[in-house]
Amino acid sequence: MHLARTGVFLWAVRSARLLALPVQRISLIDSKRWLSHTPRCLSSPFAAFPEQSAQQGSKVDPKKTEKTSASDHGNGSIPESQFQRSLASAPQNKIIHDTTGSGSGANILGQPFVFDDVSNVTDSILGLVGRNLYDTPNHPLHITRKLIESVFQYPLYKNHIASNPVVTTKDNFDVLGFPKDHPGRSRTDTYYVDSQTVLRTHTSAHQHAAFQYMSQNPEKGYTICADVYRRDSIDRSHFPVFHQMEGARMWQQYRMKTTKGGTRLMGQEERKAQIKEDLDNLPEHSLEIIDEGGHHNYKTNPVQISHDEKESELVVQHLKRSLELLVQRVFTAAQEAMPGTKQEQLKVRWVEAYFPFTSPSFELEVFWQGEWLELLGCGVTKQEILNNAGLNDRIGWAWGIGVERLAMLLFEIPDIRLFWSQDERFLSQFKEGQITRFKPFSKYPPCYKDVSFWVRPSPDGASPIGAESSSGVAAAAGGDSTKASPAETQPAAFHENDIMEVVRNVAGTLVEDVKLVDEFVSPKTSKKSLCYRINYRSNERTLTNEEVNSLHDQVLQQLTKLPIEIR
Ligand code: DAH
Repeated sequence: MHLARTGVFLWAVRSARLLALPVQRISLIDSKRWLSHTPRCLSSPFAAFPEQSAQQGSKVDPKKTEKTSASDHGNGSIPESQFQRSLASAPQNKIIHDTTGSGSGANILGQPFVFDDVSNVTDSILGLVGRNLYDTPNHPLHITRKLIESVFQYPLYKNHIASNPVVTTKDNFDVLGFPKDHPGRSRTDTYYVDSQTVLRTHTSAHQHAAFQYMSQNPEKGYTICADVYRRDSIDRSHFPVFHQMEGARMWQQYRMKTTKGGTRLMGQEERKAQIKEDLDNLPEHSLEIIDEGGHHNYKTNPVQISHDEKESELVVQHLKRSLELLVQRVFTAAQEAMPGTKQEQLKVRWVEAYFPFTSPSFELEVFWQGEWLELLGCGVTKQEILNNAGLNDRIGWAWGIGVERLAMLLFEIPDIRLFWSQDERFLSQFKEGQITRFKPFSKYPPCYKDVSFWVRPSPDGASPIGAESSSGVAAAAGGDSTKASPAETQPAAFHENDIMEVVRNVAGTLVEDVKLVDEFVSPKTSKKSLCYRINYRSNERTLTNEEVNSLHDQVLQQLTKLPIEIR
């Protein structure tokens, strides 16, 4: 089964899968423990979290972002326009045009935004903002979130959610060290509310705020769960909104009272000893692990200059063991949900990775029903990021995981659109604290329609922001320049994601997949022809011919706005 991305994309070429050293460990985990009810206060919502999105802009450290509120458009001295004021009382999450017809904007979750020439959010994407599926009891995404949180529990970890997806480009990219030409910043891959504001592409957008929170609070780690947004292809494992969870754990050098009544900073050696002790105290597990045994490639995946090598290695070991425990918990729950199927020995492998905000970095894959699946990305947090949040005296790890991927595996949900279904035949199948196998209710017929067009050369390019990345590689936080354009002869003229967006905007969840089925270059004109096949199919009912024809006509009509020539 081809499954949802983790939301974790690698930016650099993975290193070779080095030495395989399988390790067997014994399980001491009670796989049922997560089923018990978590008291409300233990996973309290984001109440005191210094969220950096629109509403709580003022709580953000002003040093961190020039534009402290995602809604002040970068310059607090510009007076609010009448249009902006009118947006404040406009219906939420809908594009509104001003009376002159030249400007537009939206009230996103109660906050007004006037669009500029970088804005590319659509009604269809805004309509999905604020559904909070991860916070809806009995929803498979909520059940999966709770299962993950049960491994990273309060009071050691603060379990946050982040309900407002509107964040600044600073928080989504800059503070995390993303280069200016990173493909994830491209308008073809990311939803811009305006030139300085995006719908977050990953939960790491809240990392800085979470670290700031940590600097003022006793918890030693956190998890964050939220919806994230990426312009992307359309198939059964990709939807422009999906969910991620992010986790981190830090160790601190702290002040101790001396016998003379003063204090002294507890040294790095003591911190190292603490990490070792915490590592030794982690439960054992029974996974089979394929790892290069800690001997990662120091050139391509280095220990940070400011870190002690041994201490960094201890952090890596603690990180790996913690995530192996997560896999053990989650997949044991899944195996228990499928009585009768052969209980296979769980196998995971560690692979080197690259993220702008960790070093060294890794990816965890799990062997599930005959396939290696990319599950999550992680690493030792860059010291600079910690220092910027006031955590100079800490060292630690972080990870990020795609919740749909896990939920699709756990519940055997075959199509990512189902998570958005409001059909009782879907929703009534799931119960809090239980992993159950999804029973498909009906398979409705597909309806295929092709669209062919010439790609016109365009000197301006389709994407003002970073479409032509010098990096030329796939990316953390989205941005996949490897498929940036099937029309490589006119690279800037056309981006496949623009086609996907038009189809999404017209057909929403009524489209199952869109595939490139033919391409050729005309020897006469050197123009490229592309043919995409759109599969209109609902998960909930049979679509009528009339309905599909009308949807397809609208798609064709909207495609004329792109720099392409319909054939
Ligand atoms: N933000 C990354 C992504 O979306 C996932 C991730 C990787 C998060 C490593 C982390 C991390 O915190 O340490 O691809």
